Amino acid sequence: MTDLSPTSIRDALQSTAPIDSTQVQGWVRTRRDSKDFSFIELNDGSSLRNLQIIAKNTLPNYSAVQRLSTGASLTVNGALVPSQGKGQKWELVADKIELVGAADDSYPLQKKGHTPEFLREIAHLRPRSNLFSSVFRVRSRLAFAVHQFFQERGFVYVHTPIITGSDCEGAGELFRVTTLDPADAGSRTAKGEIDYAKDFFARPTYLTVSGQLEAEAFALALSKVYTFGPTFRAENSNTSRHASEFWMIEPEMAFCDLKGNMDLAEEFVKYLVADAREHCPDEMELFGKFVDKELLARLDFVINRPFQRITYAEAVELLKKSGEKFEFSIDYGFNLQSEHERWLSEKHFQCPVTVFNYPKEIKPFYMRLNDDGKTVTAMDLLVPGIGEIVGGSQREERLQVLEENMRQHNMDPADYKWYLDLRRYGTAPHSGFGLGFERMLMFVTGVPNIRDVIPFARTPGSAEF
Ligand code: 4AD
Ligand code: MG
Repeated sequence: MTDLSPTSIRDALQSTAPIDSTQVQGWVRTRRDSKDFSFIELNDGSSLRNLQIIAKNTLPNYSAVQRLSTGASLTVNGALVPSQGKGQKWELVADKIELVGAADDSYPLQKKGHTPEFLREIAHLRPRSNLFSSVFRVRSRLAFAVHQFFQERGFVYVHTPIITGSDCEGAGELFRVTTLDPADAGSRTAKGEIDYAKDFFARPTYLTVSGQLEAEAFALALSKVYTFGPTFRAENSNTSRHASEFWMIEPEMAFCDLKGNMDLAEEFVKYLVADAREHCPDEMELFGKFVDKELLARLDFVINRPFQRITYAEAVELLKKSGEKFEFSIDYGFNLQSEHERWLSEKHFQCPVTVFNYPKEIKPFYMRLNDDGKTVTAMDLLVPGIGEIVGGSQREERLQVLEENMRQHNMDPADYKWYLDLRRYGTAPHSGFGLGFERMLMFVTGVPNIRDVIPFARTPGSAEF
């Protein structure tokens, strides 16, 4: 007996010549029987496509083969030969089929289509479906492309902490990290308040909402850096675009202004779209067929055209004149809601649009104050179907102005001494942004719910698995 190491189904299907003896392993998608054969569609997740296995009735365990059901795992040895059937180049004529793990009729992924809601309840099995295996292969590919994009451009990857003491966005949407037991009287002060001096880190700590502040420290040393990691928001938004745990990519560049920042965000988004188009053709075709018929045309349009750029004041004027009935009213000084963002990119410009120079009151403390004294150098990139996908700004590099911004945001500059040091010692104009990785995946795949582009979603009221 030769000991064969298994070939992935992807490699088998891309073979350039027949192979006399090979081995594959995977899970049964379907089985059908004719008089002298069983045909098994086997999938191992290496590609969207299945490999057809031909099992002849001369196999010693043919009766067991005829009982194989969807979901069972197999090791198959045999010969890779040109396929007689349509739509596939190769098939495998088995000379040995080993049942590794059986599955019975209670296996929930049957051939008929399932709703995304049902599949979310079986998030541990849904990567075995065509749609989800495709989403997660694209996710993996784009994670790689993120690193490639920045590494090709001389950015240094920085691992910013997940446990932090600061609220970067100042929105108070923090998950607390503590080892204190609130029921234990020893965790409290004489006044009955939680005594953080007794906590693990001897101070209040949280899961990070953004790696930006720490990335700024590294940009003011290594010039061009980026982070790519999980971020957490205890934001009680039950929408199709908000997750409590999501992954964010945050570049930060020294000696870079708002214009350079907007240029980079646009180049980055286009790069990721083009990468998926080039490297995941089967998956993209599936999304275009079954998720969103206009997806591929829209993405090609996005790659090939410059994005629109308008100021917040111009955006508000357009929205007020639109004649559209919005659920939330809009006026100068109000936050743009997702319906406003979508109207701008979907209806009005019909392409991605970067909105910049927002009123200082509705943006975080770290954004650079413009000469008008009223607006800050914020920028949000809005895309059709989703709304905001990128948020960023030029940072306030002037010590006094930054301290004043902090006070206006009810923050005590004394709590941010290390951050202010960056302005005390060799300060420089610098800029950066955050791209929500799941929102980018929604944009690229057309999948309309954020819960379906992350392996195990965490949302308000739900942290299953
Ligand atoms: O606009 P945000 O809050 O910006 C920041 O966190 C900055 N510190 C980034 C920076 O300048 N370095 O978030 C950035 C992006 C959003 O545009 C959105 O794509 C995504 O992160 N995002 C979320 N994605 C999923 N679920 C949520 N709850 C999200 N909140 C933000
Ligand atoms: Mg934002």
